[in-house]
Amino acid sequence: MSELLRRLLFLPRQASTLASRVDDIHFFIILTTFVVGAGIGLTGFVFLLRYRRRQAHALTPHIEAPAWLEGLYISVPLAFFLLWGALGYRDYVWARTPPADALDVYVMGKQWMWKFAYPDGPGEVGVLHVPAGRPVRVLITSRDVIHSFYVPAFRLKMDALPGRYTETWFEAVRPGRYPVLCAEYCGVDHSRMRAEVVVLAPEAFEAWRARHKTQPAPGPGQVPELAMGVGARGPLAEQGRVVATRMGCFQCHTVDGTPHIGPTWRGLYLRDEPLASGGHIRADVAYLTESMMDPQAKLVAGFEPVMPSFQGRLSAADVAALVEYIQSLRPERPVPPAAQEP
Ligand code: CUA
Repeated sequence: MSELLRRLLFLPRQASTLASRVDDIHFFIILTTFVVGAGIGLTGFVFLLRYRRRQAHALTPHIEAPAWLEGLYISVPLAFFLLWGALGYRDYVWARTPPADALDVYVMGKQWMWKFAYPDGPGEVGVLHVPAGRPVRVLITSRDVIHSFYVPAFRLKMDALPGRYTETWFEAVRPGRYPVLCAEYCGVDHSRMRAEVVVLAPEAFEAWRARHKTQPAPGPGQVPELAMGVGARGPLAEQGRVVATRMGCFQCHTVDGTPHIGPTWRGLYLRDEPLASGGHIRADVAYLTESMMDPQAKLVAGFEPVMPSFQGRLSAADVAALVEYIQSLRPERPVPPAAQEP
């Protein structure tokens, strides 16, 4: 029955323990609404025929409904609606209470990508590896605006808010790849802010994790941000340095604060740069990304237009890593508070 409804409603296959609970309530609500709605519609239709005006000037006799009937048609739908509330509350509490043995994973949304990290190091952009059959607690935050972490196959959705952590959890039931979407409009590339959850069999997951372990788990009281590279600019920034080396960025960009063929990366992030075409631009994430793809579009004044486009040569993960690396290169002197990122 529920499998039939799932197909009728074009819902993805249930891939978490939460999914069947959410769907069961969903279907129950649809069915009861349908039954109540059909009952009201059919009654209306019968009355329409039965009491239609047959002769001119004829009046329908006054009808008095007995109290028990009135009580019945109020209390039956009410009982169903209260049952929705009760079932919904039961599953809400369940869905908001991560089991104590859950694996922690950090999720960070930023325009327009998802970053994932485990406390002991492995950090990824756009792909989250998790084991099947084991609860995973998800701590979610945002670097810029409000996003919403949404995994349709898990029936899981939680807002990502800048400046605070939200929490949810899931237990994937079978290995596979499941899309992650952003469910909160967050800017021009909102519709492309996608990622993927890769659910691995437990042994495969352990093997994956062992391969990617980079640092010891943070001790109690340590900010999870450290592991995500938000505060301390961890593994992702390091990866960015590797990408920059591979792509030859350092032939033109220094990291010691002295301009070379191109602007120095030291302190570049959020710096106001004069443009060759006049005016200024703030070197935010969008500008840094655009400069890699179309360097001459907003050329910084005083430099020759010699940088090639890296469109198609850098993956989204490479771009994220490079931007993270550039952000990690703080200016020698602290920037005034107004210019610092929130
Ligand atoms: Cu992020 Cu929409």
